[in-house]
Amino acid sequence: MALKKKKNEKKLPIRKVAILTSGGDAPGMNSAIRAIVKAAMWKGLEPYLVYEGYKGLTEGNIKPASNVNVDRFINQGGTFIYSARYPEFKDEKVRLKAKKQLDKMGIEALIVIGGDGSYHGAQLLHTIGVRTIGLPGTIDNDISSSDYTIGFFSALETIVQNVDRIRDTSRSHHRCMIVEVMGRFAGDLATHSGIATGAELIITSEKKYSIKEIIDIVDQQMNKNKKESMIIVVAEHLYDNLDKIAKEIEQKTNVVTRSIVLSQVQRGGAPTGFERYVATQMGTYAIELLCENKSGLAIGFVRNQLVAEPILEALTKPRPKYLEITEKYSKINQE
Ligand code: F6P
Repeated sequence: MALKKKKNEKKLPIRKVAILTSGGDAPGMNSAIRAIVKAAMWKGLEPYLVYEGYKGLTEGNIKPASNVNVDRFINQGGTFIYSARYPEFKDEKVRLKAKKQLDKMGIEALIVIGGDGSYHGAQLLHTIGVRTIGLPGTIDNDISSSDYTIGFFSALETIVQNVDRIRDTSRSHHRCMIVEVMGRFAGDLATHSGIATGAELIITSEKKYSIKEIIDIVDQQMNKNKKESMIIVVAEHLYDNLDKIAKEIEQKTNVVTRSIVLSQVQRGGAPTGFERYVATQMGTYAIELLCENKSGLAIGFVRNQLVAEPILEALTKPRPKYLEITEKYSKINQE
């Protein structure tokens, strides 16, 4: 993938661009990296890969992308340039060190694929003179400036497939199953997966049910309404010990109850076709924006259109509320 000099090309505002992935990995990050590298080469820019997120950036773990055959990563889960949680990046001295690494290599721009924390890092780098563009990459879907984040739909698919399996076995044994799903503090995965699997109860941080309320619903569903099985989808970080809650439900209702935490399984696996479509378009758009001399922008997909807005605005937009639909579908599914 040698970089070809293109004739008659308009002078570009930058020559070199680096890419990093940060925070929890998400399916589709690889598709986005591939798209960025290819679009950069198409525009006549030199793409670089930063390994291990902001940590790698600070340590100078940056290599030319021209040596990597990125095509093979379009359909692979995870991020082949690795990711890291690096709270040290909140320290200004650390950020200045990171900027120096870029300056040393003559890299003028950085594309950051990640969630909320990663966007903060990108915004801070933008304020000290690094041209930055943010791509929403997280299974949590908690970046309000985009209808979907890269990784959300693939994780949703994984959850739905797993809950369907859990439903098969719980139906066979007349059981109640509590399934905890990820999402950090956002209820998107819980809401979408709960609706998509017909869960009898969907619990997010917008309304934390008391254990007594949950027990009453299980009793009503399983003992009085004689339902074959019951699924409760719960967003993470709400209850300390779901096993203990399952035991208490069982004791009080006589309904065999188990709890399952889907955990990191939700982050793995190949990106769906739609994820690749979104990631590829966002990655290409990031390069186009940099070539138009733009910086400090977050890319989103809103009503099926690519959009870009200041990262600061993206970070402060209100999140959608789900309580009305989680309540509605819990009720409908309890019929
Ligand atoms: O942000 C992605 C995410 O998977 C969240 O849903 C979850 O809370 C967190 O990361 C878990 O992170 P880790 O794998 O570092 O424990």
